[in-house]
Amino acid sequence: MAVLVTGGAGYIGSQTARLLRERGRDVVILDSLELGDERACLGAPLVVGDIADAALVQKAIADHGVDAIVHFAGYKAAGESMEDPGRYFGNNVAKTSALVDAARDAGLDLGAKRAEPEPPPKEEPKKSKKQKSSTNRGLTKAVE
Ligand SMILES: NC(=O)c1ccc[n+]([C@@H]2O[C@H](COP(=O)([O-])OP(=O)(O)OC[C@H]3O[C@@H](n4cnc5c(N)ncnc54)[C@H](O)[C@@H]3O)[C@@H](O)[C@H]2O)c1
Repeated sequence: MAVLVTGGAGYIGSQTARLLRERGRDVVILDSLELGDERACLGAPLVVGDIADAALVQKAIADHGVDAIVHFAGYKAAGESMEDPGRYFGNNVAKTSALVDAARDAGLDLGAKRAEPEPPPKEEPKKSKKQKSSTNRGLTKAVE
């Protein structure tokens, strides 16, 4: 069984893949290399392509026995996303939705998993809740 790390040739994904491997998990990386670098994969199996390519995603899942996905492939420049929201919506929302559909069609039992912060100790003043972006809320709902 292996973990598919999308965006695993990028900054956060490559560190996540490294840590998973250090903890004994098999990993396969899916990255278009548009912004990533193959060297960051540190020798982990790399599938080069787009997360919205359903056939490629399903082949990677079947070939590597993938049973979980950690998803980091996307664009992240906040300023650029304000200037060209359509490009960001297409890559970060529509393509994530296509990735989820392809994985479900391949038989993966997906559920949105996120770490919940520990509640603050009672004596400390409560911090205001961080607002999630509408993109983040929408994607979480889509996966749940
Ligand atoms: N860098 C941070 O400090 C930070 C903090 C919190 C959250 N994040 C989030 O983590 C995610 C990754 O951030 P990062 O800093 O690693 O970015 P990054 O640009 O270094 O890595 C993103 C990777 O995704 C790949 N990619 C983009 N679109 C793709 C597509 N359609 N198909 C396949 N591959 C694609 C790129 O080639 C790149 O390698 C983003 O959603 C970002 O918002 C980043």
